[in-house]
Amino acid sequence: MSTESYVPVAAAADIAPGTAKTVVVDGREVAVFNVGGTFYALDNSCPHQGGPLADGWVEGTTVTCAWHAWCFNLTDGSMTLGAFARVETFGVRVEDGQVFVSNAPRRPEVR
Ligand code: FES
Repeated sequence: MSTESYVPVAAAADIAPGTAKTVVVDGREVAVFNVGGTFYALDNSCPHQGGPLADGWVEGTTVTCAWHAWCFNLTDGSMTLGAFARVETFGVRVEDGQVFVSNAPRRPEVR
């Protein structure tokens, strides 16, 4: 059984508010978003056809996939248009100007 650990992925200054960055955690692409100084991490691969969510548009705490506009809540990975899809999220910590992302994905609840 693996244990959760937080992996350093970027300097906080490299992900400015209003932007996102694709990082790799344990070989997996994760999109890290900075929304007004709060960081969120989602699986970078959109469950529709794999569009990179880090390239999506963010409004509030919702990201809209740049490919076909599916929308996900950054806080829990739930889909805002319905419960037929979801994205895993990851814990994020910022310490001493460094962003750390958990290697343990969290499955959002289906609502
Ligand atoms: S790949 Fe994201 S909406 Fe189609």
